[in-house]
Amino acid sequence: SDVIEFPSSIGKVTFTHKAHQELLKDCQKCHASPAGGTIAGFDKDWAHKTCKGCHVEMKKGPVSCKECHKK
Ligand code: HEM
Ligand code: HEM
Repeated sequence: SDVIEFPSSIGKVTFTHKAHQELLKDCQKCHASPAGGTIAGFDKDWAHKTCKGCHVEMKKGPVSCKECHKK
């Protein structure tokens, strides 16, 4: 899917999957294999490490709670 939504109590996170694919090129930035698919162990801790970690590292993309979690 182009966009994946993750519900959370403080507001849902809208993940632009297709935009990230096109921007990052490398599926294995997030997936164990180049075919992608369900990410084992995907949860809040994974997201705060991998999603937010990359945004910090690239100095691009949301890093504050409210930038990702929208009511
Ligand atoms: C889910 C493929 C790149 C993050 C998926 C799914 C597929 C897939 C087939 C499961 C079906 C779906 O909901 O669409 C790919 C391919 C990629 C790619 C082929 C490269 C061209 C990325 C990148 C990221 C990412 C770069 C992170 C920045 C995710 C997440 C899910 C997902 C978070 C949901 C995982 C879950 O619920 O367990 N991807 N993906 N993907 N992908 Fe990717
Ligand atoms: C931008 C969420 C993982 C790199 C964004 C944006 C959101 C977001 C909401 C704002 C722009 C948009 O909506 O497209 C997420 C989530 C992730 C994730 C929920 C995990 C499932 C990653 C990873 C990387 C990355 C792993 C790098 C390896 C970027 C960059 C931008 C961005 C570079 C800025 C794009 C631009 O301004 O052109 N992300 N992201 N993200 N993300 Fe992520």
